Amino acid sequence: MGSFYHQIFVTLVLLLSIFLPCSLSSTTRRFEFNVKWKNVKRLCNTRPILTVNGEYPGPTISVHEGDNVEVKVTNRVDMNTTLHWHGIRQLRTGWADGPAYVTQCPIGTGKSYTYRFTVVNQRGTLWWHAHLSWQRSTVNGAFIIYPRMPYPFSVPIQEEIPITFGEWFNSDVMAIEKDMMLTGVGPNASDAYTINGLPGPLYNCSLKDTFIKTVEHGKTYLLRIINAALNDELFFAVADHTLTVVEIDAVYTKPFTTKAIMIAPGQTTNVLLTANQKPDSTGMFVLAARPYLTSIFPFDNSTTIGFLKYKTTNSKETVELPLPSYTLPSNLPALQDTEFATEFANKLRSLGSPQYPCKVPRKVHKQVITTIGLNLQDCPPNKTCKGFRNQRFLASMNNQSFIRPPISILECHYKNLSMANLFSNFPEKPPVPFNYTGVNPLTENMNAEFGSKLVVVPYGTRLEIVLQDTNFLNPENHPIHVHGHNFFIVGRGFGNFDAEKDPLHYNLVDPPERNTVAVPIGGWAAIRIHADNPGVWFIHCHLEEHTTWGLAMGLVVQEGKNPSQCLIPPPDDLPPC
Ligand code: C2O
Ligand code: CU
Repeated sequence: MGSFYHQIFVTLVLLLSIFLPCSLSSTTRRFEFNVKWKNVKRLCNTRPILTVNGEYPGPTISVHEGDNVEVKVTNRVDMNTTLHWHGIRQLRTGWADGPAYVTQCPIGTGKSYTYRFTVVNQRGTLWWHAHLSWQRSTVNGAFIIYPRMPYPFSVPIQEEIPITFGEWFNSDVMAIEKDMMLTGVGPNASDAYTINGLPGPLYNCSLKDTFIKTVEHGKTYLLRIINAALNDELFFAVADHTLTVVEIDAVYTKPFTTKAIMIAPGQTTNVLLTANQKPDSTGMFVLAARPYLTSIFPFDNSTTIGFLKYKTTNSKETVELPLPSYTLPSNLPALQDTEFATEFANKLRSLGSPQYPCKVPRKVHKQVITTIGLNLQDCPPNKTCKGFRNQRFLASMNNQSFIRPPISILECHYKNLSMANLFSNFPEKPPVPFNYTGVNPLTENMNAEFGSKLVVVPYGTRLEIVLQDTNFLNPENHPIHVHGHNFFIVGRGFGNFDAEKDPLHYNLVDPPERNTVAVPIGGWAAIRIHADNPGVWFIHCHLEEHTTWGLAMGLVVQEGKNPSQCLIPPPDDLPPC
């Protein structure tokens, strides 16, 4: 008898093990995204904003590791659009990546395009956003990937708290972009920072637009933090509480506890927070975000706050207005706290466990050294420029200011279209070496060259890119984002990169793995990429003003020998230009 049941049990387990993984991995999650206008009121000001499905912030996409995802995007507005799944690797599915004129032509008015891709070997918090013009200002949302295996941290999690930071503009963002390109001037700053679309009580008419989250004493929460702001790195802290960082850009980290975080546009950070403080009679703790400021351009120096509210036994769940008086958390870093930003970045390490090994390339096939920074461009003849010295501002990598071509680079590449006049090779060293972070950079030639410059590498290349900030006009922290790949930040420093000495101090054991690196102000960062994803991948600064000015380039990864190293054919509904 015993052995009979045993056999049935074994058969069942076998059957399950055969069918379960297949059925799990073949799950397809479908979403319908309609890009449309919606009137939204913030700061006493009602204006139409671009949204997905009328939601602000946009809808959250939740999937499991291994899922197939299909997002049918329909454009119901009077301008072109595209969407990008920020940080999703898009293995062999570059057609679904989204940056306009890089991997696709835009989706025209009244048209649809279905983004199809599989979430392979990634888990955690990412996000999605529009990838044309400044549309991502309001067209963005969380992209959450639940893991197949339990979290590597053992604390039981009571609840997840998504926290997306954004910037609110009282005027039309697309007009701001247009204006800066027309006159060569710096863009207007935003009017407020927001937490999940809510500015909070430090802004006019915003008392009711305040983020409040109820928590229970003794419980631990997982905060999924996204910086969707257009142009600003942010500090974030919760009064009297510490945060334990466990994941960045959907990669687990060695957990560490910190009083605050610095998060650059494009980045995501998961932290654990335990509600272990003794609240006063209001039960409220302030959470706050304000910019990490490294720029001389006009900026929004305001602060967005929200509240954690401890549940009390007699608690009515409604929060009464007016809210209690508040002070900013004393653990919130000051606007220019580069020391905190540096210490924080130094603590980020890959988890590097047997289950989640850190696969940093120890040797590289190729190194590219590129400056990243601003330019002052001569005013074109017969135009008036309103930038510094009546010139116009631009930005570049190795002095090449990226121009979006009128066609899709990926399509040209895939179809072998000869567009030689449109594209050329990105210089792999600064064309004119100089003291990049020296004292008097305004004497240097500030004029950039224009083009759609690409670095082309064979499949499987282990590539190192050194990103060198410059003092042209203004040294600045630039969050550089790479599409289609994660990378390892093997080194960072201030001043000029020293090709002899600096590599001796690289971390080739447990460097942080991510998709966006905040390159230190007046410094450099070295990143290593295993280029194992064929396609055309945009590399750019995630400060929207800098992308617009041309701080970008393309990385072309050629196809490999076997079919699994090749792009899938372009989908039928890929929009035409
Ligand atoms: Cu988050 Cu190229 O973008
Ligand atoms: Cu930048």
